[in-house]
Amino acid sequence: MTNGGSLRRRNMFEEYTNGNLPNLKEMVAKNYSEIDPASEPEVKGVGILTSGGDAPGMNATIRAVVRAGTKAGFKMMGVTRGYHGLWKGEVKELGHRDVSETLQRGGTFLMTARSKSFETPAGVLQGAKMCKVFGIDCLVVVGGDGSFKGARDLARIGIPVIGIPGTIDNDVACTQYTIGYDTAMNTAMEAIDKLRDTASSHERCSVIEVMGRHAGYIALNVGIATGAEIILLPEVPWDMKDVIKTILDCRNKGKRHYIVIVAEGAGDATEIAKQIEEATEIESRPTILGHLQRGGSPSLRDRTMASLMGVRAIECIKDKRLNRLVVYRNGEITDVDIEEGLSMKKSISMDELERSKLLT
Ligand code: F6P
Repeated sequence: MTNGGSLRRRNMFEEYTNGNLPNLKEMVAKNYSEIDPASEPEVKGVGILTSGGDAPGMNATIRAVVRAGTKAGFKMMGVTRGYHGLWKGEVKELGHRDVSETLQRGGTFLMTARSKSFETPAGVLQGAKMCKVFGIDCLVVVGGDGSFKGARDLARIGIPVIGIPGTIDNDVACTQYTIGYDTAMNTAMEAIDKLRDTASSHERCSVIEVMGRHAGYIALNVGIATGAEIILLPEVPWDMKDVIKTILDCRNKGKRHYIVIVAEGAGDATEIAKQIEEATEIESRPTILGHLQRGGSPSLRDRTMASLMGVRAIECIKDKRLNRLVVYRNGEITDVDIEEGLSMKKSISMDELERSKLLT
């Protein structure tokens, strides 16, 4: 750390907040390259917020960050209601005991929000100002890609950040695992096992819509785990004629029930069920699992991932490796630069989808 570095950062901040709001992109282009990573200011206070859709394991993440952070000597602060709360200055100190009995609880006790305010330069500046006001020298953001973009914008104007991936969708490109994914899939799997019982008794087709936004990771894995006849993903074009043919083939082979898993980004379960019934005369029922996939006590995998990723976030701060995303890759918890992480692309396994077709 050098005084010159922290002074330059302070000056940048003053420049951004002198009331005359600049074009953030231009300012970033002008200044980001000047930031010397070796000259990060000393971190004393660390804030944590959860942002975007909640995910089982977020509480376990907060607990890990707060406990590892206090043990490392940082003043730990919780920000409620995500970026929205930061914007309004909803910040309170969190100690070791404040996170007791949270490991096994679903949801996020800090609460969360989808904050539009943070998509504007003025919103980012207000967030940065609040970090300065409350002595948050580094902000830990638990969320998905959208939340990380907000964190990156803060980093670009000199507020150090660390991101931890927390979303049931598993759609963050730079990591093979996001906190909440395992619990959500197990919740969906248990619900689908129950739907199979009733579909089988009535010789019906059950069309089940699972979450995932624009990604099919939940649908693919849940489909394999429940022995679905058909899995429809947003990443793979599909045709209703093929769906109907597969169901009729299954009936000809003596099947008594049919399970169709549709990712929410791939189609509408109600419409698909209607078309299947019309074309095959097999009674079909749609079920939209919806937000029940987001709740519940986190699974063992989510508790351990959340705990270890939380500790990794504090290790990054201790080692002055700031503006990083904690990720899981090739069996290891590690971290990547936030700009690099956000520029990555992820693709679903076509092989796994093809293999799933051999199992029904
Ligand atoms: O990102 C998590 C997620 O549950 C998606 O799977 C889903 O599309 C979305 O959030 C729903 O968002 P909301 O809770 O704001 O309706």
